[in-house]
Amino acid sequence: VSDQRVEIVPFARKHLAGAMEIFAEERWAYAQDGERTWRALSAPGTETLVAVGEERVLGLAQTMGDGEIQTFLAALIVARASRGAGVGRALVAAAVARNKGIRLDLISEADGFYEELGFSRMSGFRLRMPS
Ligand SMILES: CC(C)(COP(=O)(O)OP(=O)(O)OC[C@H]1O[C@@H](n2cnc3c(N)ncnc32)[C@H](O)[C@@H]1OP(=O)(O)O)[C@@H](O)C(=O)NCCC(=O)NCCS
Repeated sequence: VSDQRVEIVPFARKHLAGAMEIFAEERWAYAQDGERTWRALSAPGTETLVAVGEERVLGLAQTMGDGEIQTFLAALIVARASRGAGVGRALVAAAVARNKGIRLDLISEADGFYEELGFSRMSGFRLRMPS
């Protein structure tokens, strides 16, 4: 990260409001209900890391891994105002450093970013769950 004051720390309740603002910018499903998003981002078996600068949440990454073979990058988002400064790259690097196993998979909405980081392109699928 170009700004040395950016820290990557475990997600905590105090980060929720800032995270909700970032989700709202993208209109992600996480933006709808703060308590539900809190439960999702702090769910057992998952790990959420936040990038914080000057006490503001700049971005976050959530992973879920089996500790042996595979890890899934379940969510990655950086605040619009903080993009292009290496925050996304730093969050992925922190997620890689904290997870054991042999691979990190994801469904992409930002192909160029992942290619820049050395991920290889594969096909992905998503099933919309019945409500
Ligand atoms: C994708 C996202 C996380 C990238 O975060 P970021 O902090 O802007 O990324 P970085 O600044 O760390 O970029 C790392 C490198 O990837 C490149 N990059 C970033 N976004 C890119 C894109 N959409 N296409 C191509 N290259 C991209 C940067 O230029 C940078 O390259 P450099 O180091 O040579 O300058 C951010 O744009 C975002 O939150 N987007 C909306 C949500 C989203 O799509 N999340 C991913 C869902 S799968």
